Amino acid sequence: MRDGRRVAVLISGRGSNMRALIEQANGYEVVMVASNNPEAAGLAWARDRSIPVWSKDSRAMSKVDWEAELESQLDRHSVGTIALAGFMRILSPEFTARWSGRIVNIHPSLLPKYRGLDTHRRAIEAKDVVSGCSVHLVTAELDAGDVIAQAEVPVLADDTADSLEQRVLDAEHRLYPRALAEFVGR
Ligand code: GRF
Repeated sequence: MRDGRRVAVLISGRGSNMRALIEQANGYEVVMVASNNPEAAGLAWARDRSIPVWSKDSRAMSKVDWEAELESQLDRHSVGTIALAGFMRILSPEFTARWSGRIVNIHPSLLPKYRGLDTHRRAIEAKDVVSGCSVHLVTAELDAGDVIAQAEVPVLADDTADSLEQRVLDAEHRLYPRALAEFVGR
């Protein structure tokens, strides 16, 4: 039985949002962490806390096979909601269709502005005075699903992409756990 409150977090790298989701879990439980990158730094942190971890290098196999293996892990842990957190692989249209309405992502811009990469540099170059982050549903089209929550931060006159990234990241860590709790409790 799939239970929307049983969450799998998918990461590819450092995993600071994964950590925020686990540390601030309220109304949901992170029952597994998965990655397409066995070297992802966040995996060690999850393992140290005895959270089940599954990772397999997605470059070594087809997307269909990788997603099939992921799905068997999701079944095994009765996962009902997937939270992407710095997961850098685009999921197939078949996978997103099967999980329609049950995958969320955190993106470092105020969508629909700046889909894709390099969001902070683009916000600075556009002379935006406000930026932020968005939690949105994941569909087959990159960063284009319905937005379910956003948080704004100021862009300061002397910001670099790095300083803006840090300010937005702090906002992500506050927004994502709250948005996920609301999403699974809806
Ligand atoms: C975050 O900025 C997130 O918005 C984006 O990728 C980054 C992941 O960082 N999708 P972390 O791995 O959660 O630290």
